Amino acid sequence: MAISTKKTTAKPTNGSPKLKFNTGWEYAPAPESKGHIQLKDRYDLFIGGKFVKPSSGNYFDTINPATEEKIAEIAEANTADVDKAVKSARNAYEKWWKKMAPKERAKYIFRISRLIQERARELSVIESMDGGKAIRESRDIDIPLAANHFFYYAGWADKLEYAFPNRVPQSLGVAGQIIPWNFPLLMAAWKIAPALATGNTVVLKPAETTPLTALKLAEIIQESGLPEGVVNIITGFGNTGADLVYHNDVDKIAFTGSTEVGKIIQRAVAGTNKKVTLELGGKAANIIFDDAPLDQAVEGVINGIFFNQGHVCCAGSRLFVQESVYNKVLRKLKDRIETLIVGDPLDKNTDVGAINSKSQLETINKYIGIGKSEGAEMFQSSCPIPKKGFFCRPTLFTNVSQSHRIAQEEIFGPVLAIQTFRTDEEVIEKANNTPYGLSAGVWTDKGSKIFNLTTKMRAGVVWANTYNKFDPTSPFGGYKESGFGREGGVHGLGAYLKY
Ligand code: NAI
Ligand code: MG
Repeated sequence: MAISTKKTTAKPTNGSPKLKFNTGWEYAPAPESKGHIQLKDRYDLFIGGKFVKPSSGNYFDTINPATEEKIAEIAEANTADVDKAVKSARNAYEKWWKKMAPKERAKYIFRISRLIQERARELSVIESMDGGKAIRESRDIDIPLAANHFFYYAGWADKLEYAFPNRVPQSLGVAGQIIPWNFPLLMAAWKIAPALATGNTVVLKPAETTPLTALKLAEIIQESGLPEGVVNIITGFGNTGADLVYHNDVDKIAFTGSTEVGKIIQRAVAGTNKKVTLELGGKAANIIFDDAPLDQAVEGVINGIFFNQGHVCCAGSRLFVQESVYNKVLRKLKDRIETLIVGDPLDKNTDVGAINSKSQLETINKYIGIGKSEGAEMFQSSCPIPKKGFFCRPTLFTNVSQSHRIAQEEIFGPVLAIQTFRTDEEVIEKANNTPYGLSAGVWTDKGSKIFNLTTKMRAGVVWANTYNKFDPTSPFGGYKESGFGREGGVHGLGAYLKY
């Protein structure tokens, strides 16, 4: 740390004294080292336990969104490659995986979990480089949780009859899994771990902007000795995903991503035997009552919307504050936003990293423009942001009405829309007035209020006096346009079984 000679500017906001977080100390850069990571210049497709060249011969670049520099070339799988991967998964299913004793299956899954733990440091750095998220988050949340998911589901592999008493749970066959770019390794774990524990084989397609940790996972899978073809990882764009969805030898599709693509997938599988789970967008309400511990609530709101740059399907992107505490909450929020450090994802002090891609930054900026032109009032952190790379200042909007697009549509960035309310009934109605229903947050001292809200809100997950808490034992999923099916916990097993 270095002592700053800069004076703290304690300008009053709205006449009330400004909280001084900055006491004259400044953070010196604390970059995580990259020296220990191993990356190839070019990655092929992981099919049948080997890295194989794509039959298209095509490769695309994955870049670091914080520097705009190319990191590696990634193979693009075409229809023939997808077919090869599905055949390999089918073959492994019939030949080995279906017949293997469940407790033997568990050993491989435990081994994958331990290898992720062993390589946690390398995986964290690669995750932050490829996708832009702050190293603090990949190191403390994404990678440990990914290992946890494998660990948790490994434990279920030989206990399925206890999860489904008086039934005979049976695997489905080949699972096609398509994942997004906001939690790349974690989403791979959410998908692969329960599929393997229930005796299915897998073809996984990572997102085009963040394929690297899934490809490192392919190396880990090789090292674990998992029978060839039980997990296949194929990279590419939306077309590759579509080829997997349409393939007629796939028994189950698990998708996490946009509602738009979720709808396309549902149409594609209509009339087939494919089982489907869809985890799509969200526009969560985070609700602060006047009896809430306000400082704690403000921390929860900050975490709810700025965690992972707001690229979170369950982000608390709509804040509802009870009128009597509105001014106080707003002042505290603005002060707290000013303290967030935006910048180099590999710096351990960074709170908000890079936006995942240029096109996502354009989407976010488009919505900021829409918010202003609809008449909402914008407040942005005054922090410096790097000139190169894709960055966005933490932003909030006040004077927002229910009909504003920034209050209705998923922005998937660090942008918070704030509204007020007076009564419980009013806020429940406002919170439910959305096409989505993935998550919500409630901040109050009163248990009865929490129970009232959790039963009346149409949201798959409701957090009380906390936000964005994830655990492999707890089911996650949505209502309405947020999708259907549950991942995590015992519920997550059911999505991969006939029972
Ligand atoms: P997307 O839904 O296009 O991408 C997610 C995954 O689906 C990627 O692997 C992509 O290659 C694949 N995909 C694309 N088109 C496909 C198709 N026709 N068939 C099968 N797979 C296909 O999401 P995108 O365009 O990256 O982001 C757009 C918006 O979607 C974001 O701004 C955000 O609002 C939302 N989103 C929500 C996520 C969530 O966690 N619920 C994750 C990512 C995006
Ligand atoms: Mg990338």
